[in-house]
Amino acid sequence: MKLCIDDADVEKIRRIYDLYPADGISTNPSILAKTGRRPYQVLTEIRGIIGDSGELFVQAVSPQAEGIVEEARKIVSELGRSTLTKIPCVPEGFKAMKQLKAEGLRFIGTAIYTPMQGFLAAKCGAEYVAPYVNRIDNMGFDGVQVSKDIHDAIVRNGLDSGLLAASFKNSQQVLELVKYGVKAVTVAPDVMEALVKNAAIDSAIAQFNRDFADLVGEGKTMSNC
Ligand code: G3P
Repeated sequence: MKLCIDDADVEKIRRIYDLYPADGISTNPSILAKTGRRPYQVLTEIRGIIGDSGELFVQAVSPQAEGIVEEARKIVSELGRSTLTKIPCVPEGFKAMKQLKAEGLRFIGTAIYTPMQGFLAAKCGAEYVAPYVNRIDNMGFDGVQVSKDIHDAIVRNGLDSGLLAASFKNSQQVLELVKYGVKAVTVAPDVMEALVKNAAIDSAIAQFNRDFADLVGEGKTMSNC
């Protein structure tokens, strides 16, 4: 399962890439807007951090298929072939997906709130489909269950696609889909850090280190004791 970061803040991305086993970066227009910077400038810096092979997800904003296709060509020419265009799962988006599939460009179906959106994007050749787990929860439905249903529909119909589940607000939502074995999840840096933030962990490590200091002296480690 791939673990991606849902953000465009280059300092946060640098920190997460340094510490955690991250596989790529996903963005959307709102995430880019938060940086207040020129989109291609930020995205080029992110490409520099994650390397040529890291998957980078960038959303098209055109309302018509022709515009989406044009954006996808530009996104790939600027940011490399491991960049996937995020395409909203609406009728013009599906039309654009079919064209991009024919051109051999990579894309992902996004803005998914219902299982059938995910199924149709997978049928159009989307490499990933992105259900918005927490946003679905906030509508009074079960975002994890919708994600599992899409995963099952893809697997049972033999489609060459998988989830990039998105919009998480807590560790439990992420854990449920990790246990289910979906293709990928993308989480914001604060959710990522919260996955292993736990007073019991800190307390256990502090006690180990105090015991070791009592044994060999303060500041000593296994390198120099
Ligand atoms: O990129 C789409 C998704 O990650 C949105 O997340 O936190 O705005 O619901 P959020």
